Amino acid sequence: MSSYKIIDHEYDVVVLGAGGSGLRAAVGLSEVGLKTACISKVFPTRSHTSAAQGGISAALGNMGEDDWRWHMYDTVKGADWLGDQDSIEYLCKEAPKAVIELEKYGVPFSRTDDGKIYQRPFGGMTKNYGNGIVQRTCAAADRTGHAILHTLYGQALKHRTEFFIEYFALDLLMKDGECKGLIAWNLNDGTIHRFRAHTVIIATGGYGKVYYSATSAHTCTGDGNAMVLRAGLPLQDMEFVQFHPTGIYGHGTLITEGARGEGGYLTNSKGERFMERYAPKAKDLASRDVVSRSMSIEINEGRGVGIDQDHVHLNLNHLDKEIIESRLPGITDAARLFANVDVTKEPIPVVPTVHYNMGGIPTNYKAEVLNVNGSEKTVPGLMAIGEAACVSVHGANRLGSNSLIDLVVFGRAAAKRAAELIKPGMPHEEISASETQKCLDRFDKIRNSEGDVGTAELRLSMQKTMQSKCAVFRTEKTLKEGVDEIKKTFDGLESISVKDKSLIFNTDLVETLEFDNLIRQAVVTVDSAYNRKESRGAHAREDYPKRDDDKFMQHTLAWCDGKNTKISYREVHKSTLTNEVQYFPPQERIY
Ligand code: FUM
Repeated sequence: MSSYKIIDHEYDVVVLGAGGSGLRAAVGLSEVGLKTACISKVFPTRSHTSAAQGGISAALGNMGEDDWRWHMYDTVKGADWLGDQDSIEYLCKEAPKAVIELEKYGVPFSRTDDGKIYQRPFGGMTKNYGNGIVQRTCAAADRTGHAILHTLYGQALKHRTEFFIEYFALDLLMKDGECKGLIAWNLNDGTIHRFRAHTVIIATGGYGKVYYSATSAHTCTGDGNAMVLRAGLPLQDMEFVQFHPTGIYGHGTLITEGARGEGGYLTNSKGERFMERYAPKAKDLASRDVVSRSMSIEINEGRGVGIDQDHVHLNLNHLDKEIIESRLPGITDAARLFANVDVTKEPIPVVPTVHYNMGGIPTNYKAEVLNVNGSEKTVPGLMAIGEAACVSVHGANRLGSNSLIDLVVFGRAAAKRAAELIKPGMPHEEISASETQKCLDRFDKIRNSEGDVGTAELRLSMQKTMQSKCAVFRTEKTLKEGVDEIKKTFDGLESISVKDKSLIFNTDLVETLEFDNLIRQAVVTVDSAYNRKESRGAHAREDYPKRDDDKFMQHTLAWCDGKNTKISYREVHKSTLTNEVQYFPPQERIY
């Protein structure tokens, strides 16, 4: 049995993660006087939200008529009818208020000539139910996430959220199906901390690093998702992995969709604007799944550019220099740095790159985690928000700029719900010694691994398998191979080696704990994909090319015990909150 000295803490609420959703929740909780801790493995302003470029959607109507109902229609359609319509209604209706709040907090948005928040066109965002492009995406140049993150961190400090920075969360503390807190390891001094809380809010982001080429930061390892799986709870819709059309070829760095919003376009080796063929109306601003698939078809059919004909070109050189300088400064730098391209003169080499996980921890629109086992009961004491959650507003495919708005709308919703459920200073229950011990034993076992396989080797094998077997296009054969290969990689955990046994800034141990988290998510992702025998949104099965609403207009639920999964399904919420609007039955998606 392992023995570590434990430092105890008590909070009304613990927020795990300090990206856009975690910080927005922390601000809301602290504002109403709830004693709030925010735990993060990285410094808050280095969270991955800082990489969000193009903007945040809200039907403000600053640059032409707009309506939250049109935003809702686009989101339901973009999600290929797998989104929960009550949650989508909540998102689109609350979005304008949430953005105005950000403005008041001090986010330095770009401005129109008359001083309003600047809004740009983005993929899949339309007016009047698909009849023309709308300007709905509020932007701070092409550094919108960065601007929001810094502002929210300032607000959280102002409201006295208590930060535990560079603490790595190990596991949730559960008692009779309720969450009572969590255990974390302080990377800076090696101490172990037990946090008791009436509610834990998981805001740990996505798990893009299960793939080899992703726009995600190295920290995007879905730690909260894995903690939920280890607590015996399911993850939802994990097969839906979004490929962003424009990652820099060979490097993966994001080139914002805002570049196409400002007038950029894609071309193949013949110089053709091929999106005109695939999406005659929306062209380069069709939704991401459509653009990524079209690019992959061009490449697969031999019309890619470069020596290996394995990517395409994004052209910005026809744009006004002033527009590039004022609205796209970040990607101008990125293109120069990572592709050696001057965007005013040459096209950027781009390729579809893993960008976002639509799946995650199932929640209702109040951010409460669901224990969906035949019913939709909530898990007391546990909430999830942001990319870690599957609320589910993005369904099978997320529209660009709907991620930042998801972060702030549901971060705010979580704080509101917690304020209804918790009275400041309510007494805490004891946490059983065995629950704490179980967590420490796992930590200790990994720390003392004495095998002969390095973590990096196993991680690479997982990433290569996911990249080739669970890609933009999928088949029964590739997915079956993927399931088998990922299980084999999982077995590698038994012979993993952690050479550094220390407890202070031990990156060998951190990466191994992260790998342990990633591989569980890889297992449920590829197995969920294998079991969904239809094409919908980002899940494109060559062997089942049609959407099958009779069988699969359902959310996938996946549990895992080690490498063994259990798959089940739950109904999509077709009813809205007010029944003011309804977007059912599903239609064909024509762009
Ligand atoms: O293209 C982008 O700027 C990314 C935005 C998003 O994923 O929402």
